[in-house]
Amino acid sequence: MATSQTFGEGRGPDGRSSYDLLAARVAGSERVLDLGCGDGVLMELLAAAGRELTGLDLSPDSLAVARRRPALADARLVEGRAQRLPFPDNDFDACVSHMALMLMDDVDAVAAEVARVLAPGGTFACALGGGAAGGEAFELFLSLLRPVLASAPPHQQIPSLGDRRTRNRAGLDEILGPAGFAPVSWETVVIDLSAPAEQLWPLVSCLYDVLPLPSGTLADLRAEFTTEAAALARADGTVPCGFRLHIATASLLPPAEPRS
Ligand SMILES: C[S@@+](CC[C@H](N)C(=O)[O-])C[C@H]1O[C@@H](n2cnc3c(N)ncnc32)[C@H](O)[C@@H]1O
Repeated sequence: MATSQTFGEGRGPDGRSSYDLLAARVAGSERVLDLGCGDGVLMELLAAAGRELTGLDLSPDSLAVARRRPALADARLVEGRAQRLPFPDNDFDACVSHMALMLMDDVDAVAAEVARVLAPGGTFACALGGGAAGGEAFELFLSLLRPVLASAPPHQQIPSLGDRRTRNRAGLDEILGPAGFAPVSWETVVIDLSAPAEQLWPLVSCLYDVLPLPSGTLADLRAEFTTEAAALARADGTVPCGFRLHIATASLLPPAEPRS
């Protein structure tokens, strides 16, 4: 299941999706870059008359899905790496990034590139994964996954991606500050992904790259998870499932005046 399906259906405490929450952070910006845009669901939300939208992703398959969205007919959709953006300086008023920055390597280079392509005063707003919210389906999934991984050979391990500093506010400031950003504003929301037990597997497993595991192991894990999750169902048939998401926003400071 794509991230867009999982988080498209998930809802924060005020009923908005994490895409809505991020879009609201750049509401007044005209030239917007979506970094790691995936299949373009956030861009679709951002598409509005007069707004210039650009999406960048390293996956041609995801970009192909984005290109099929009618709302993105006028958007620029570019294959590339966030560490080396193929755009001129000061090309954007805002940059958004949903569940992508924390997966990227050399994130200091990414921050420098975002700062270069943003106009002074521009906004960088990103949604970063914060893990299971506690006491429900995600924890069950992880408790079943851990022993499987502990006995799996190295080539079946889930690759560890990204930079741990993106997981907390101080770490993100360490990355963004040297690139020229003001201290981040940081909000943590729990996205409710609760669903009936039989619908939960694609949702929880998509947030971890479980594909290196053999298909038989995955099938067993799925069956065990679905049975045990069903026992956690509430009266309405849904199993509580919450994912913590950090929404971080930072402004690009104007360049320092040369000293006389
Ligand atoms: C979990 S998906 C999120 C996609 C989309 N933002 C969403 O939330 O629906 C992460 C995306 O980041 C992209 N990505 C990861 N590293 C990247 C990089 N260095 N440069 C550009 N895109 C990258 C992946 O190809 C993938 O589409």
